[in-house]
Amino acid sequence: MQKHSTLGEFIIDNQKHFKYTTGELSRLINSIRLAAKVVNHEVNKAGLVDILGHAGDTNIQGEEQQKLDVYANTVFMQTLKNRQIVCGIASEEEDDFVTISGNDESNMNKYVVLIDPLDGSSNIDVNVSVGTIFSVYRRVTESGTPVQLEDFLQEGNKQVAAGYIVYGTSTMLVYTTGHGVNGFTLNPAIGTFYLSHPNMMFPENGKIYSINEGNYIHFPQGVKDYLKYCQKEEEDRPYTSRYIGSLVSDFHRNMIKGGIYLYPTSSKAPKGKLRLLYECNPMAFLAEQAGGKASDGYKRMLDIKPTELHQRVPFFCGSKKMVEVAESFMEQYPDDANY
Ligand code: AHG
Ligand code: MN
Ligand code: MN
Repeated sequence: MQKHSTLGEFIIDNQKHFKYTTGELSRLINSIRLAAKVVNHEVNKAGLVDILGHAGDTNIQGEEQQKLDVYANTVFMQTLKNRQIVCGIASEEEDDFVTISGNDESNMNKYVVLIDPLDGSSNIDVNVSVGTIFSVYRRVTESGTPVQLEDFLQEGNKQVAAGYIVYGTSTMLVYTTGHGVNGFTLNPAIGTFYLSHPNMMFPENGKIYSINEGNYIHFPQGVKDYLKYCQKEEEDRPYTSRYIGSLVSDFHRNMIKGGIYLYPTSSKAPKGKLRLLYECNPMAFLAEQAGGKASDGYKRMLDIKPTELHQRVPFFCGSKKMVEVAESFMEQYPDDANY
């Protein structure tokens, strides 16, 4: 009988991939695992909001109810802070990065984390899957000193680990440390993640395209042309359109079934909408590790040099062949590469 390892066992088994390891990264992933379970519990209660109270209300214990994205942010920040395993955190929910400097020892930690604590937040109220995205780097400034902006503004190709949690019909944690992508499904009865999707791979080609097509009129011409290509009657087309509106969920489906996700620039969002550091780069790292591809429509996502913490970029990501075809349409309009 095949042994189904738990995430806890898997983390320990995989520590051997890292030379000179001190177990710091393992402890970091363990903390994310723990926070994921806490957030999962809260996400699953979201439908009870009319009974338990809305954000801003005071509950029966006199505690103020938080919005779920604020709550998820607090849980991930606190879990990483309390266990003193990172030296800095940047989050979608915080204007600036946070320096962890509880005591001198904590600042000897070498990793920084960037996080989108709750992705797809507009889907919470309607019982549709949401997620969490995280990205891990080794700091570049000297250990033992407070972290600096440059520790966070690293190219995606420097990521040490990245992953997401999808709070879906079942809750999964999917991550990579640069040795492929593995997916773990939570057994909620006992609170344990099991390795359910070992070595996840994007099909090389696919038939699903995911884009907010309501913005069509505002898209660059290359994207419009590509969408017409997707819809054209040919032997394997028209493709199927699927758009959940939670990047995590759209990515997860496309990785399993084969597909492409696009969030291009538009006249409404001239630099795109998604954030380079805690949405696109972690997903791009996962995509490449799973045999897929990710770019801004022109160049590799992981080679973009970040300039700001909350920087936005256009995002094309998914099955390798599909992304390549989309890029070939973009190539016809080289001026649109300068967004
Ligand atoms: P967030 O909830 O973290 O702000 O992210 C939402 C993102 C992403 O998950 C999703 O794919 C996209 O925004 C949806 O945007 P549109 O509603 O513009 O399509
Ligand atoms: Mn998001
Ligand atoms: Mn978010």
